[in-house]
Formats: sequence, structure tokens, C-alpha cells
Amino acid sequence: MHPKKQVITLERALNLSRSESTALFDKHVNHPLAGLLKLADADMRFTRAEGIYVYDEEGRPYMDLTAGYGTLNLGHNPEEVIKAVRDAQNLPAVLLVGFNPLIGALGNALASILPGDLTVAIFGSGGAEAVENALKTARAATGRRTFLSCGGAYHGLSFGALSVCGSEKFRRAVGPLLEHCALIPFGDLDALQQNLQPKDVAAFIVEPIQGEGGAVVPPEGYLKAAAALCRKFGTVLIFDEIQTGFGRTGKMFAMEHDGVVPDVVTLSKSLGSGVMPVSVSITSEKIWKAAFGSRDRFDLTISTFAGNPAACAAALKTIEIMHREDIPGKAREMGDYARDKLQNLKTKHALIKEIRGQGLLLGIELETGGLFSGAMEQNLALMVITELLHKHHILTSYYEFNPKVIRFEPPLIVTTEQIDEAVDALDRVLARRKQAISLSFGKTAIGRMLHH
Ligand SMILES: Cc1ncc(COP(=O)(O)O)c(C=O)c1O
Repeated sequence: MHPKKQVITLERALNLSRSESTALFDKHVNHPLAGLLKLADADMRFTRAEGIYVYDEEGRPYMDLTAGYGTLNLGHNPEEVIKAVRDAQNLPAVLLVGFNPLIGALGNALASILPGDLTVAIFGSGGAEAVENALKTARAATGRRTFLSCGGAYHGLSFGALSVCGSEKFRRAVGPLLEHCALIPFGDLDALQQNLQPKDVAAFIVEPIQGEGGAVVPPEGYLKAAAALCRKFGTVLIFDEIQTGFGRTGKMFAMEHDGVVPDVVTLSKSLGSGVMPVSVSITSEKIWKAAFGSRDRFDLTISTFAGNPAACAAALKTIEIMHREDIPGKAREMGDYARDKLQNLKTKHALIKEIRGQGLLLGIELETGGLFSGAMEQNLALMVITELLHKHHILTSYYEFNPKVIRFEPPLIVTTEQIDEAVDALDRVLARRKQAISLSFGKTAIGRMLHH
């Protein structure tokens, strides 16, 4: 091999400076994102991560309130999960004749923690892949073609997942997408019934609590009624629990709050604790058989890395820890604590419009109360986020489809002291008068950019 230039070694890559890392990311990965991060002075170089903290080059800790968007429910780099992956490392990493010995065990573990008859799994690596598998299952099982989904829904960025995405902006750039897809408002049962009535809908896909839409909990009874309507009209109900699953909302799965069991559920993110990428779409034996249970169809569920031993080991150990440590119970307790503190903050700060969500999938919606409009109103949350990062060493972001809503989504191992620290920091940032926030933001490069 004659490389054109010297190839960067791993050793060198691990020791790049902050500016070198940013330059390479800018050139080879994502130029506009690199630009934005640089402007906000947020192209940090974190060199270590553990529990709810990441550490910069000087060893300073930053509290992570994003938890990899729900991927790090057990915190960064949980040792037991890393060890589990090492323990499985002598097995054939990819085996295309036969199957790895852990895959059936993981299917069994998932079936035993899920409610109802969700027992047959199609594995994959990322969330969008699980969504694709769920949508394919519905079409193949029903012979119908239409997909229904909700405004504000986020299901990933592959073509099928984007076709049921609740944001026009995300769909526009890469269209045309799948035909026969329709959007209805989240929480609207009349719209659901109207769309199901023609009996041509293969699947209705919905997040039990919307994540990227901005931590939106549907009206009481919505999921139960939606399930009854889907049953009545022969439509497969898919719950996307990729972000809400594995304790995030205070139950192992968000569907348990309402006692509703879908026909298919998609899971990923915290299934592998962020140590390994792994995803799954699980359905009943009856639906799986109807979709793929014949010799000419069973291999429609194959993917090279699906259910590889390292991914299965990470998932099996994650499930074991979740149970043993009652992580969903902890999330419920800490979620109640955080919500009370945030509600209390709301009474002090007119900038907070609403606190919402469930468990530790919380959102803080900000508004300027008509004081500002346009970019300032839109970017208030971004200003607060930037200040939390630089002044208080707290990492957070806004929800992808709702830039006014700050993400309060820490790992589920967070303590009351850490919640106190985060809420106090937010209190201090918000306590600066709105004008002061706007002045300080206006002076930053990102502020200048947004106004020009
Ligand atoms: C509810 C939901 N579904 C699907 C996805 C897509 O997962 P991935 O980014 O792994 O493809 C996400 C990611 O945030 C999500 O929150």
C-alpha cells in the first residue's frame, strides 16, 4: 500500500491538541457544525468520561445533562459493561454461518423484561435500523402500505425513519421519501381514527413520550385509546422506546405507565449503555411469523453486525444491572426530585414557560414573554446552554425539534446533590436579568452570527 500521505496512527489521534482535532473534524466530518462549535467556544476536547462527568484536557469535570440523548442511563463507561464486552471478546466477532451463543439469551432477557407477548427480536446496531425493521415488519405482516406517525416525532434519519419523521425541515432535504406516509398531531385521537378508518394503514408509529419533540407527554389515556383503535382497524402499533426505554421515564419502559402493550417496540441507545451500538425491534411470535416466517422471507431480517457477541454482552449486562440496582426506581425518585426543584425555579423565573416530561426525560421550555422576538426568542435556550457550559461546566443542549426546550436528561445514576448543583447553576444563569443575558449573548461570536 502506498498511502498518499502519512496515515495518522491511533496513538497520535489520541494525543491531538484541541485545535488539531477541530481542524480534522472540520475538514473530514462536518464543516458547518465545526464552525458553530468554534463560534460558541464549544469545540471542547474531552479526554475522559466516567459516571455523569466528562473531563477536559486539564482534568476539569463537566456534568453531563444530555446522557448521549438517553444512551448513557448507567452513566459514561460503566465498568461492568466494559468488562462484559471483554469477556465475550474470544467468541467469533461476526459469524454468518450459525449464530452467536448470546443472541438467543438476549432475546430471552428482553422478552422477560417487556410486558405482553413481545418475544421475537430483530437485532441491529442503531435506532434508525430498529425503526426500519419495525416498519418492514408491519408491511410484511399486514400486506398494507400506509404508515402513520406524529408531528414532532423523531425516529432517526434513514429513509424509512425520515419518511415518518415529524419535521418537514428534516424530510425536505432528501425527498422524495417513502410514499403513503401521513402525519397526524401527537395526542389527537380523532385524527388517528379518521386515518385508520380506510383500513389501509400498516402501522402507526409513536413515541410514548416524545423526546426530540421537547419531552412531550401525551394526554392521559391517549396511548390506551390509540392501541384500541389500532386493534379495531387491524393496524400494527409500534412504540418507539429508543429514547424512553431502560428506565429513563421512571419505569423500565414508558409504555408501563399506561399499561399498554404495542404490537412492536423499538429499543436502542441505553440497551448497550453506550459501550456498544445495539438496537432491536421486538414483536409477537404471531406477527413475526406473518411477516417473515417462511423460507423465502426469514432472511429479510439479516444485518452483518446484528446481534454480534460484543453487542449482546453489553446488552445482557446492562439489563442485569438495571434490574439489580432498580435503575428505573432511581430514575423515578430522582425525576420527582428534579421536577420539584425545577417547578420551584419556575416560580422564580418568568423566563421559564413550562417544565415537562416524565422521570428523568425532562424539558425546560423558555420564553422571553414577548420581550424579544425572532432570533433572540428562538435562541434564548442556546444562550442559557452556552452560559451553563462556560460558566458552570454543565453540558446540556436543546431538544432537536424544539430549540426553546432545554434538555434535563442526566444519567439515571445522578444524585440529589448533583441535581441541586445543576438547578442552582440554572438558577444563577436565569437570575441575570433578561437584558443581561441578551447583552452578553450579543457580544459573543455566535450571537453576532445569528443576527447577521
Ligand atoms: C425516539 C427515537 N427514535 C429513533 C432514534 C434514532 O436513533 P439513532 O440515532 O440511533 O438512529 C432516536 C434518536 O435520538 C430517538 O430518540
